[in-house]
Amino acid sequence: MSDVVLAADGVSLAFGETLAVDDITVQIRQGEVVAVMGPSGSGKSTLLHLLAGLLRPDRGSVSLLGERFDDRPERVRARARLEHLGFVFQFGDLVPELTVVENVELPLRLLGHRQRTARERAKEMLDRLGIADEAGRRLSEVSGGQAQRAAVARALVHDPTVVLADEPTGALDTVTGELVMEALVSAAADRGAAVVLVTHELRVASYAQRDVLIRDARVVADPVPTAALG
Ligand SMILES: Nc1ncnc2c1ncn2[C@@H]1O[C@H](COP(=O)(O)OP(=O)(O)O)[C@@H](O)[C@H]1O
Ligand SMILES: [Mg+2]
Repeated sequence: MSDVVLAADGVSLAFGETLAVDDITVQIRQGEVVAVMGPSGSGKSTLLHLLAGLLRPDRGSVSLLGERFDDRPERVRARARLEHLGFVFQFGDLVPELTVVENVELPLRLLGHRQRTARERAKEMLDRLGIADEAGRRLSEVSGGQAQRAAVARALVHDPTVVLADEPTGALDTVTGELVMEALVSAAADRGAAVVLVTHELRVASYAQRDVLIRDARVVADPVPTAALG
């Protein structure tokens, strides 16, 4: 079997007159950390949503674990996302009213794990990310860096095959952002999860093993030669 776990093959998507993604082909292999880089508006987030099956391409296909899934009904794609993917977004999409540990155990609860098992595994992840002391605090009461660590914990708690991260440190200061990136990349490596990291910051891209450069909705380099990244 090929070690490609997530692949877009010739995907295009237009929003009205705007061609947001134009014939992009990209492959993500097991356990690798890939940075998708490019200026604002170049199509990075749209590509990530296509890879996640959250948007459907006008042309081309997306495959998860060797099976095409962009053309499956939303119910099937939602289940595939829940089982195999994890997400970290710029401002998180955690539930502010829930505690940190309740947020982190959510994917496990949705997958049908018992409360006790889910709580145990969520606490292990919090410990791994250095925020065990925050477990019982409401998400709305923790710092931005702690909230992003909770988002990382939630993205990894169910052992996904791939974590998709869209500007995961965009709302954090430099030092906090670097700590969150280190936590994301090392915790993903522990679990054998691949990471697709969308960013316009070179500093963040430096955590990746491979950089894919996008400009005007197209891939212009994959991989980007190291010299070109300075
Ligand atoms: N939901 C949408 N409706 C209309 N246009 C969109 C939508 N999402 C993105 N776009 C447009 O598609 C292009 C790519 O956007 P995006 O993927 O968000 O870029 P990036 O993440 O690289 O900043 C931009 O021109 C943006 O304005
Ligand atoms: Mg974006």
